[in-house]
Amino acid sequence: MGREEDYAEIARRQCERTAMIYYAFRKRGGTANDLVEMPAMKKLIGDVKGKRLLDAGCGFGSYSIYCAQQGATVTAVDISPTMIELAHKEATEAGVDIDFRIGDATNLKDIPRDTFEMAISSIVACFNMPLFFKEIGRVLKAAGSFCFSDVHPILGSGQKAGSKKDPARLVGRYFQRGLRTSANVFGKIDPSDEDYHWQWEQYTLGDYCTALRQAGFLIEALWEPEPDPATRHLNPELYERARRYPFFVLIRAIKMKA
Ligand SMILES: C[S@@+](CC[C@H](N)C(=O)[O-])C[C@H]1O[C@@H](n2cnc3c(N)ncnc32)[C@H](O)[C@@H]1O
Repeated sequence: MGREEDYAEIARRQCERTAMIYYAFRKRGGTANDLVEMPAMKKLIGDVKGKRLLDAGCGFGSYSIYCAQQGATVTAVDISPTMIELAHKEATEAGVDIDFRIGDATNLKDIPRDTFEMAISSIVACFNMPLFFKEIGRVLKAAGSFCFSDVHPILGSGQKAGSKKDPARLVGRYFQRGLRTSANVFGKIDPSDEDYHWQWEQYTLGDYCTALRQAGFLIEALWEPEPDPATRHLNPELYERARRYPFFVLIRAIKMKA
């Protein structure tokens, strides 16, 4: 099995295994996504009205539903069948019509090139970034925009330090690329429980920029957002931590002419 197939298989297996845990974790609210990532992504995405849009790695569909409600025509792909089932349920409850598909965002074989005016993805690039960006570049029209978020690489680069109440971060292995595993990413219970372990690929911020350029993109904005003050009440302790170091990186890139 090649490196690429390995990653798709790792992503499929772990995302399928953790789908219900992730869903419950996000539905509880007060996560870093609620405080930092979602408010910033919505600003970065901007006006989607009338656009044909791809949500790559859509999970249970929060952004797909948001974009459909804002007037986009949305195709949404996820490698986990359970996620797609949850997304269908959420979209039905929200009363929006979305073309959900089970598929690998690094190999969108059923989607022709130059299909979309816009692509978005939230915390998906960290599985196989170079191939993922190339495939997004293939299905985007020239001058189309790609807005995505990822966990900031500084978070995966070290370990927690400081007191339990005030965990700081030590940057220990920022330049050490490769597969990483961590426990407890979903707010946890039992660190020995494998269902809570998570694997991803460590990249540096420079790697994101290089891979985008190699896939034919021009970076329009790179943003390390601070938490949205309106969300502080959701989780004051997490809010204070998120004011001190970046939890996410967001990028808007434009597909250059082929
Ligand atoms: C951290 S979750 C984020 C989900 C969603 N974007 C959100 O904001 O809630 C990562 C998602 O990416 C999906 N994923 C990972 N690798 C993928 C791939 N190669 N193709 C399609 N989906 C993938 C997973 O199944 C999972 O739903």
